[in-house]
Amino acid sequence: MPILTSTLDPRGAVYAENRAAMLERLTDLESALRQARGGGGDKYIARHHARGKLLPRERIELLVDRDSPFLELCPVAAWGTDYPVGASVVTGIGIVEGVPCVIVANDPTVRGGAVNPFSLKKTQRASQIARENRLPLINLVESGGADLPQQAEIFIPGGAAFRDLTRLSAAAIPTVAVVFGNATAGGAYVPGMSDYTIFVRDRAKVFLAGPPLVKMATGETVDDETLGGAAMHATRSGLADFIAEDERDGLRLARSCVRNFGHLLTRAYGAEPKFDADDLLGIPSADLRVPFDPREILARVLDGSEFDEFKPAYGAALCTGWGAIHGHRVGVLANVRGVLFSAEAQKAAQFIQLANASGTPLIFLQNTTGYMVGSEYEQGGIIKHGALMINAVANSRVPHLTVNIGASYGAGNYGMCGRAFEPRFLFTWPNAKSAVMGPQQLAGVLSIVARQAAEAKGHAYDEEQDRTMRFMVEHKVEQESAALFLSGRLYDDGVIDPRDTRTVLGMCLALVGTGEHAQFGVFRH
Ligand code: COA
Repeated sequence: MPILTSTLDPRGAVYAENRAAMLERLTDLESALRQARGGGGDKYIARHHARGKLLPRERIELLVDRDSPFLELCPVAAWGTDYPVGASVVTGIGIVEGVPCVIVANDPTVRGGAVNPFSLKKTQRASQIARENRLPLINLVESGGADLPQQAEIFIPGGAAFRDLTRLSAAAIPTVAVVFGNATAGGAYVPGMSDYTIFVRDRAKVFLAGPPLVKMATGETVDDETLGGAAMHATRSGLADFIAEDERDGLRLARSCVRNFGHLLTRAYGAEPKFDADDLLGIPSADLRVPFDPREILARVLDGSEFDEFKPAYGAALCTGWGAIHGHRVGVLANVRGVLFSAEAQKAAQFIQLANASGTPLIFLQNTTGYMVGSEYEQGGIIKHGALMINAVANSRVPHLTVNIGASYGAGNYGMCGRAFEPRFLFTWPNAKSAVMGPQQLAGVLSIVARQAAEAKGHAYDEEQDRTMRFMVEHKVEQESAALFLSGRLYDDGVIDPRDTRTVLGMCLALVGTGEHAQFGVFRH
């Protein structure tokens, strides 16, 4: 390859003059950058630190991989305007867990992190870069929302920020929001529209209106924590997927989210579990009513016993999370206590969508007695929420593998990807059972119906016959619910020794691929 030559004379006067002029401009730039790094000024920085909080650049430094570069974008936005240099946000591209991500960090020292017209432009440019280059977007949120005196310039165009967040998600570009403090009104929609949300305990305040506005609007007197604290959002509203104990923990959790984007990850996992597979024989009771923690199973099935649980404080009767088997990333849905409530169903649907966004296969560990019944739950929309989960399972495009490790009753069987929902493979443990409901319940229902029919006709109900009927029905349903009976009818792909679960799932995962299909068959001409 030819090598270029140079005629430049670095000792000449022209060169010296050019260089001096350039250095002068660089000094100007450095001074503008210093202004930007100075955020809202010493007073506000000192106050922020005194509150035990980190500045946006400190947060970014803890978020990105150690000693990795950070490409800051538009650092002197708003220079030459009446707004503070840098606007009220830091944006850039950093490497998180080996994955290049766009990072947007509000600067709460600049007018409470309120969004001015230049913050808006800067944020929108960052979002555009995420979209065009398919980079995950991580928002480090702490903002007073719109810069109120400037609302006319930002309110209407500002809607695009939320539009773009949802469009990133729709394009399967992951979005993460870590909330460190105030996120009112519009700010609340940033976590609201992100795929993964992490709220810092006792610090995050996420509501459409703060206590004073609520008081004015509805007369209700309420405190920040009840209205929009991390604990409330993690356990009740479901807006927070994770509670972080402090800011550093929040950044650690954000890193773990990126680690679980799966499709973006290149690192191979394959370590053996840290616990003995032999233990799997003694975890479920022969009596299916005795609950057991599926994490005990996962600890003996997943690579290195590593499991990043998703949304652990919400819908706790269903455990969801990310791990790997024989180096294949998987999402896991496992029943903890038998019943599925509305929160569990909603969490399942969200988790299935996340797995689809990242193309991660799903493992369903069934141990469910079905969706919760009763007036409270009917009124709370249990049918609607169960349908949401079943819809998500039915239309999910990633490979599903199901193992019935205990009970699989009622519509819980459908929601947890039973045979009719066409998991690529379905295996059953020898102790497991499956039926429309438990034998006693089924016999009891038949008995009540028969009793009511007799009463309606004015006949005396034959108690002796009822006892016999119940005994026969219970016995029949008990037999028909058993693993061998069901396997005999090909309702599964086999009854497996629990100790083989990891090997069986590992082999299946090696086979299932990504589920990509050709659009048409091969035509013969
Ligand atoms: N618009 C314009 N200025 C704002 C602002 C906003 N949304 N939020 C805060 N500021 C200004 C404050 O007036 C203050 O200015 P000053 O220092 O010149 O007096 C400065 O930013 C810092 O605010 P302060 O309240 O002292 O900071 P804080 O860290 O204690 O609290 C907030 C920050 C964001 C929690 C608090 O200011 C707040 O609740 N703001 C209003 C939030 C809101 O309801 N926004 C509606 C969005 S649609």
